[in-house]
Amino acid sequence: MPLHTQGFKDEVNTIAVVGAGLIGCSWAALFAAAGNQVNLYDSRPEAARLMSDFWTSVKPTLIKLGMATAETVPKLEVFTTLADAIRDADFIQECIPERLDAKQALYAEMEPVLKPQAIVATSSSGLKLSDLQAQWQDPGRIIIAHPFNPPHLIPLVELYGNERTAEGVLQRSTALYERCGKVVITLKREVLAHVANRLQAALWREAIHLVIEDVASLKDVDTAVSAGPGLRWAVMGPHLLLNLGGGEGGLRAYCEQFKDSYHQWWDDLGTPQLTAQNIDKLVQALGEEIAGRDYNQLRSERDNKLVAILGAMKDVEAKHLKADDVA
Ligand SMILES: NC(=O)c1ccc[n+]([C@@H]2O[C@H](COP(=O)([O-])OP(=O)(O)OC[C@H]3O[C@@H](n4cnc5c(N)ncnc54)[C@H](O)[C@@H]3O)[C@@H](O)[C@H]2O)c1
Repeated sequence: MPLHTQGFKDEVNTIAVVGAGLIGCSWAALFAAAGNQVNLYDSRPEAARLMSDFWTSVKPTLIKLGMATAETVPKLEVFTTLADAIRDADFIQECIPERLDAKQALYAEMEPVLKPQAIVATSSSGLKLSDLQAQWQDPGRIIIAHPFNPPHLIPLVELYGNERTAEGVLQRSTALYERCGKVVITLKREVLAHVANRLQAALWREAIHLVIEDVASLKDVDTAVSAGPGLRWAVMGPHLLLNLGGGEGGLRAYCEQFKDSYHQWWDDLGTPQLTAQNIDKLVQALGEEIAGRDYNQLRSERDNKLVAILGAMKDVEAKHLKADDVA
């Protein structure tokens, strides 16, 4: 168990997921596959069918990852009222659309019904915790827990709590997420869009610039990421990798060798906007790249490759652990 969660049992028996869209269904599938009782609520009446279709579509993937078997029947119940879904929940993963007014209205409805120790974790991609806390009687129980899509496959979850966050809430949440197989990072201060989306935004901005300025085709720009640095980034972050790029001298040698180059490159990076014209150009170029493959085909291609990478990494980590045991 990681040091920072030692002594914290997550003590979560029931998790409520509120919002059964792209992110909510994926969280619900992950929590259920990890053996939790999951209560789901969405304001749309078709939520039960959406969740059932989602579970059926991801079950083979969960089986390949060793998170479910053919016999697994998820403890997943879909409720038609918010109060019934959250009343017995120890932990609530909120996944409604990214609008502050909608989230605040939902919290006002939730707060009187919650169990005393229940934690509310919002999946919000970019809203500020201080704004999300504003109308709570007890702001100490709400935190940011931002997943990367799709949460049932991408391990990362970004946690943020501030000076108003109650003692133990981040640690209990970390313990729960780690029990469900997530990899947790914790932000030290509030920043727009957390960490991973800022990194994605920085890379995507330059990728758009290269396409719009006709430096390379959209297909080649995507390939430059997925067949190059993207593959390395799956195993190590940029600092660790560039530490290796500096040879025996490590990151310091790398910085000394390339600082002038980076300063020139950073000055030369593009700052495109998502104007209607640029969106049209990107969408048209994307159409040529995907060549008729539909959403579901692309989704299963992504998921199959992710499962292969995750499985291979698990094997490598297990071998390292075994080697450490022997040594
Ligand atoms: N889409 C992504 O890639 C992504 C990634 C990480 C985090 N997020 C965050 O997750 C949250 C949800 O995003 P999404 O993409 O799943 O949205 P979505 O539009 O796919 O799903 C939102 C769901 O919430 C339901 N809903 C709306 N109001 C509700 C209410 N008051 N009570 C209950 N249900 C309600 C909707 O019917 C819908 O099913 C957002 O905060 C978003 O920023 C999204």
